[in-house]
Amino acid sequence: MFEEAQYFAPVETRDDGSVVVELAKSHPGFADAVYRERRNAIAALALNHTPGEPIPHVEYTAEEHHVWALVTGELAVKHRTYAVREFLDAAERLGLPRDRIPQLQEVSELLAPLTGFRYLPAAGLVPLREFYGVLADGLFHSTQYIRHHSVPFYTPEPDIIHEVIGHASTLASPRFAELYRLAGRAARRVETDEALEFVSKVFWFTLEFGVMREGAELKAYGAGILSSYGEIEEFRGMDIRPLDLAAMGTTQYDITKYQEVLFEAASLDHLEDVVGTFWDICDDDAIAGLVSVT
Ligand SMILES: [Fe+2]
Repeated sequence: MFEEAQYFAPVETRDDGSVVVELAKSHPGFADAVYRERRNAIAALALNHTPGEPIPHVEYTAEEHHVWALVTGELAVKHRTYAVREFLDAAERLGLPRDRIPQLQEVSELLAPLTGFRYLPAAGLVPLREFYGVLADGLFHSTQYIRHHSVPFYTPEPDIIHEVIGHASTLASPRFAELYRLAGRAARRVETDEALEFVSKVFWFTLEFGVMREGAELKAYGAGILSSYGEIEEFRGMDIRPLDLAAMGTTQYDITKYQEVLFEAASLDHLEDVVGTFWDICDDDAIAGLVSVT
């Protein structure tokens, strides 16, 4: 899930109990009353979910399954060229369906035996401290809706293709799953909002938009790149910088565009040494020290 408030359509519960997702006018589904009803109904399922209960079942339409099949099929082809080996192996072990949208409950049941991670349903934005904090417990908040069918290769928001193809495939790797857990522990450990933001930005530039050297080639391991049909073709041409905690934690980014600045790990070992170790031990003072040198 992307964490920024402006990226998610706000979800409102009205006085009569109805749930409304406020799509922006620029959203591809804005003028589609049927799609908007779907979004409202799916958001209501997550809002009414009781922790500990099975994840609500979404009855997806044939059109929605078709969008999933089309996009995930194309992404799978691109992954062979652009994804790190660790991601490809993990995605194969996970074995997500290609012809239909899986239920999040099903994703949890595929994932848990591999790395212990389970999914939680989210209607939209989850507060930063909660979203990151529960990663420490092996829990991942995920939306359940899918993008609008009129532009299947574009979404202004993190939809189930991003959450599952991008994140669940990564979470199926024990090494990446451990990094998510470490990010969660860091988020729970830090006290100030500034330090939490720093931790979340390091997450953004690694587990969302990270790239890694693999032999002679630059590959992606970030869920944001690996779930984006357009961005996956573009990342090699971006401003690629060396992995640097202070830079990642303080660099501003625009979530509405392709990420122009990316940080390259020399290897998965390197990512674990630099970012994993940081999340494992960082506290407010250490982060304040890193911010002060930038
Ligand atoms: Fe995400």
